[in-house]
Amino acid sequence: MALHSGLCSRLIYSTHPAQALRTAANTLQCFRYSGRTKEENQRHAAYPEIPERPQPEQELVVARGRRRVLKDVLPFSEFLTDSFGRRHSYLRISLTEKCNLRCQYCMPEEGVKLTPRGQLLTTEEVLTLARLFVREGVEKIRLTGGEPLIRPDVLHIITEMRKLEGLKTIAVTTNGMNLARLLPGLKKAGVDLLNVSLDSLVPAKFEFIVRRKGFHKVMEGIDKAIKMGYNPVKVNCVVMRGLNEDELLDFVALTERKPLDVRFIEYMPFDGNKWNFKKMVSYAEMLDRIKQQWPSLETLPGDETGTAKAFRVPGFQGQLGFITSMSDHFCGSCNRLRITADGNLKVCLFGNSEVSLRDCLRSGASDEELLQIIGAAVGRKKKQHAGMFNISQMKNRPMILIGG
Ligand SMILES: C[S@@+](CC[C@H](N)C(=O)[O-])C[C@H]1O[C@@H](n2cnc3c(N)ncnc32)[C@H](O)[C@@H]1O
Ligand code: SF4
Repeated sequence: MALHSGLCSRLIYSTHPAQALRTAANTLQCFRYSGRTKEENQRHAAYPEIPERPQPEQELVVARGRRRVLKDVLPFSEFLTDSFGRRHSYLRISLTEKCNLRCQYCMPEEGVKLTPRGQLLTTEEVLTLARLFVREGVEKIRLTGGEPLIRPDVLHIITEMRKLEGLKTIAVTTNGMNLARLLPGLKKAGVDLLNVSLDSLVPAKFEFIVRRKGFHKVMEGIDKAIKMGYNPVKVNCVVMRGLNEDELLDFVALTERKPLDVRFIEYMPFDGNKWNFKKMVSYAEMLDRIKQQWPSLETLPGDETGTAKAFRVPGFQGQLGFITSMSDHFCGSCNRLRITADGNLKVCLFGNSEVSLRDCLRSGASDEELLQIIGAAVGRKKKQHAGMFNISQMKNRPMILIGG
């Protein structure tokens, strides 16, 4: 695996990671930091004759693996900026591989092979990584899974994360089964945003899709979240042909009186989920159907890195959106990184390259050494995903083992 500082050092480790990390740390005793982003460095290397914007050159001193962070000089962490200039300020952490539902689109019918407990990130490891990423510029963390609300220490993790200076938003994606019960604790611990997954408004169909009972519990969770002031409560609905595409209008109608943001997600291929193109309902098709019912549907401005294309029916309290990862990807503005429950960093949801931060942590790596590993992985992030047909043929994890 190649490690790079992004500026001047490149080394290979082929034996023990800890040994390679130490070599990396020694090599990096002192390197020059120009104040340029990684993209600017690459541009400068390729076209040295083009004058740059004036920048004070600074020495960044790495002493025994500890880096002095020159916040006033760094435009954004070099380690979290990829070679296309994308700044990764949003981290999704999967808290568990387990789940109390068995959604057809997320996991194979026979279940998944769970990672032995000792190989999953501990509470302290989750918090150490969160601290490191936030120190580097991550402003939003989403806790996901598996089902994050079945992890016994979830409230403790959120409470501790809330103390991280610089972390603006803590979000949770949940299937809603334990939501009503945990909501007071989640609010108190400091959860800012809630996404609840719900794929059908018909109880029997809900049960068919998620292979478990629980529709009313999820609805209770959503209503309680609204009462407790979450506005909007986001509802994630994976739309699949022949299963729930006939409920599109009912979901939109829900936004009339409730401050919900219903997000229709294009069905994505993952290992073991039996994806095929015919089952995917595209954004264009969904929008067309909704516009037939509500021709005055308004487009809402989206935020720079937002994944959803947002709309509102005039006069409705809530809004709707489309996550169009398959038919119209948003890789160009992607600012997300993921850490799986077993501690692998995944720079792209649809890419199968991973690096184990858990192994680095457990081999005693310093923050600086970890950042080198993270920076190298981020540096290798591809411009965009390979396209739905290629993705469907590729080996990746089932979604439940990634964390959406
Ligand atoms: C993997 S789940 C984990 C969090 C939680 N258990 C939940 O269901 O909300 C995160 C999100 O991924 C979405 N998801 C899972 N498999 C998907 C697929 N094949 N295509 C699109 N979205 C998917 C789910 O609907 C959910 O909103
Ligand atoms: S989508 Fe969420 S609730 Fe459904 S099986 Fe996957 S992790 Fe569980």
